[in-house]
Amino acid sequence: MAIVIDGKAIASEVRNEVRINVEKWTSLGHPPPFLAVVLVGDNPASASYVRGKIKASHDAGIDGETYSFDATISEKDLLDFIRKLNDRPNVNGILVQLPLPDHIDASNVIATLDPNKDVDGLHTVNAGRLATDLPGFVPCTPAGIVELLSRSNIPTQGKHAVIIGRSNLVGRPLGSLLLRKDVNATVTICHSRTQNLPDICQQADILIAAIGRAHFVTADMIKPGATVIDVGINRVNDPSKKRGYRLTGDVDYEAVSDIAGYITPVPGGVGPMTIALLLNNTLIAATRNF
Ligand code: GUN
Repeated sequence: MAIVIDGKAIASEVRNEVRINVEKWTSLGHPPPFLAVVLVGDNPASASYVRGKIKASHDAGIDGETYSFDATISEKDLLDFIRKLNDRPNVNGILVQLPLPDHIDASNVIATLDPNKDVDGLHTVNAGRLATDLPGFVPCTPAGIVELLSRSNIPTQGKHAVIIGRSNLVGRPLGSLLLRKDVNATVTICHSRTQNLPDICQQADILIAAIGRAHFVTADMIKPGATVIDVGINRVNDPSKKRGYRLTGDVDYEAVSDIAGYITPVPGGVGPMTIALLLNNTLIAATRNF
């Protein structure tokens, strides 16, 4: 039976460390770090994530504010607002919650962010820094996954890490992070067109599922004793729940738990780490220049 990696407990450790470092920073006479979160439209999942991010910021002594816009805002007006945030000296970090409405090109929005305030690490400057092993902002979910592995003492040196998913938010940056010389994993990135996916997954010492499809990873894809990290947060209908749905990951948790050595639950695995690393990035944005 796999050991469950308690993302909530590890995230709480990280958040506490950030809170202590924020206190040290403000005790030197600096204002608290300030995170601006931009939310467009009324996607309930996005609204809930944003509330979580702001609450966690406040708990860590970080000033956080949400700027909400109607789904009908024009791309131009949104870009103008982001330029204003770029220009405000008291704003250290800016996060634009994704996804954005279809009429807005997310890549234009990300390109408008000041790279030195891009706490999500999505601007091409930060993506390029990560890809070329230079210091910069690292996207919060991949950074959180590497922190989970390290704080759970899961060996990565020379191990085969297989990532399913090639998104800019998770799969690609995670590949770069796992290749860093302090992690030293051997990395394979798979996607929807990968041939023989189950065979490749079976070779993984560490398997990371980030595809956004409920229960995609099944027990037959797991090498016995492997570490399985589940990035998925899928809503599946569940009439037995008051809200009518439940959250489930990309991994068939029950069956995979019988084969894996370590596994992250959903919820309570990667999700809390994403928020913890966002707080850390916001503190970095306030305290240093890359
Ligand atoms: N939507 C889902 N995850 C994320 C994230 O980490 N950052 C942003 N900006 N949007 C998201």
